[in-house]
Amino acid sequence: MITVGILFGGRSGEHEVSRCSAASVFTYLDRAKYNVIAIGIDYDGRWYPQNNPSVIEHKDFGRVLDFKKEGQWLVSNFYDNGKLGIVDISSGNKIYIDVVFPVVHGTFCEDGTLQGFLDLALVPYVGAGVSGSAIGMDKDVAKRLLKEAGLPVVPWKKVTSLLWKENRDLICDDIENEFGFPCFVKPANAGSSVGVSKVKSSGELGSAIDEAFLWDNKVLVERAINAREIEFAVLGNDSPIVSIAGEIRPRHEFYSYEAKYIDSNGAELVIPARLDDVKLKEMQNSVLKAYLALECCGMARVDLFLDRDSGDFYINEINTIPGFTSISMYPKLWEHSGIKYGELLDRLIELAVERWNRRLGIKIIHEN
Ligand SMILES: Nc1ncnc2c1ncn2[C@@H]1O[C@H](COP(=O)(O)OP(=O)(O)O)[C@@H](O)[C@H]1O
Ligand SMILES: [Mg+2]
Repeated sequence: MITVGILFGGRSGEHEVSRCSAASVFTYLDRAKYNVIAIGIDYDGRWYPQNNPSVIEHKDFGRVLDFKKEGQWLVSNFYDNGKLGIVDISSGNKIYIDVVFPVVHGTFCEDGTLQGFLDLALVPYVGAGVSGSAIGMDKDVAKRLLKEAGLPVVPWKKVTSLLWKENRDLICDDIENEFGFPCFVKPANAGSSVGVSKVKSSGELGSAIDEAFLWDNKVLVERAINAREIEFAVLGNDSPIVSIAGEIRPRHEFYSYEAKYIDSNGAELVIPARLDDVKLKEMQNSVLKAYLALECCGMARVDLFLDRDSGDFYINEINTIPGFTSISMYPKLWEHSGIKYGELLDRLIELAVERWNRRLGIKIIHEN
C-alpha cells in the first residue's frame, strides 16, 4: 500500500487555512488504497507527524485538522529508495512516506522552497515543481511570462523596497499619472489577499504600499478592473485538462481576507459561471496556455478578471496549491466537471508519481 504524507500548517500566514483543506484531504483519501499520515508543520518550521488526528471545530475557519506537537522529529532526505524518512529522536519511531501531498499555502510552502526540499529527498509530491511553484507565487514574474506568451494581464507597476525608500513621492506621482484611482496595491509574493488594498485616492496610496511591504520586498500596483472574478481548475502534467468556469461574487468591496475566511457569507460561489460559449472557450484556451507558460504540473487554479465594462478578460493569478476543502472552488469545479473529490485525489497522486518516474530517467551525472 502507498503511504501518503499530507503536509499541513506551514510557516506562512495561511497556516490555519491549510488545516481546513487538510481536514478534507485527510478525510477523503481512500484508505483501501493509501496508508495516510498527516504531518503538521509548525510556524517555526518543525514537522510533527500526527497520530490519528481528528477533525475539530476552529473559531474562524470551521472544521480543521487537529495539530498536536508531540515528539522531536527529524526529516531525512537520505533514505535510499525514494521515500521520505521521518524519525522521532526521542522515541526512535520511524515513518516512511512514498508520496507527499502538500496541503499548505504561501511562503515556504507553495513557493518552491518546500518543493526543492522534496526534490532533494527524491520523493514524489503532488503539484508543481520548484520552478512552477516559485513562478506561481511571484505575481510579477508570472505576469511577465504570461505577457511573453501573448496572454492578457492587467497593466502593473513593480515597486521594490529600496526604490520605495528613496523615491516615495516620485513613485506615488507616477502611479497616479499611469493608473489613477482606484488602483490595487498588493505584495508580489503573498496570498489570501493579505496586504492587498484598493486605493481610492492619492492620500491612501503611500500607506497602502507601506502595508504591502510588510509582506514582501516587492509590491505591485495595478489598474483596478471593474471585474467579475472567474476561476478555472486545471489538472495534469504535459497534457492538462481544464474545468468549467466558476465565479466568485464577493459581498465586500473586493475579495479580501475577511471576505475569504472570516465572514462566512463573504462571497458567493457560482458554478458554472454564466458566460457565453465563445467567451468560455476563449478563456479556457488561455487558461491552458497560462498553465503551461508558468511551468505548472499536477494542478492549479487559474483566476481571471472579466471586465464588466469592456468585456475583455485578464489572467490575474495562478494558485499552485489551491484551497482544498470539499467546498473550495478547485474541487467543486472538478465535481461539476464530473470528477469527484476522492477521484481527484487519486488522479493527483498518479500525476505526482508519473512526473517523478519521468524525472528518474533524466541523467544528472555525466559518465565518461
Ligand atoms: N487589478 C485589480 N482589479 C480589481 N480587483 C482586484 C485587482 N487586483 C486584486 N483585486 C481584488 O483583490 C483580490 C486579491 O488579489 P489577488 O491578486 O488575487 O491576490 P491574492 O493572491 O492575495 O489572492 C482579488 O480577488 C480581487 O477581488
Ligand atoms: Mg487571488
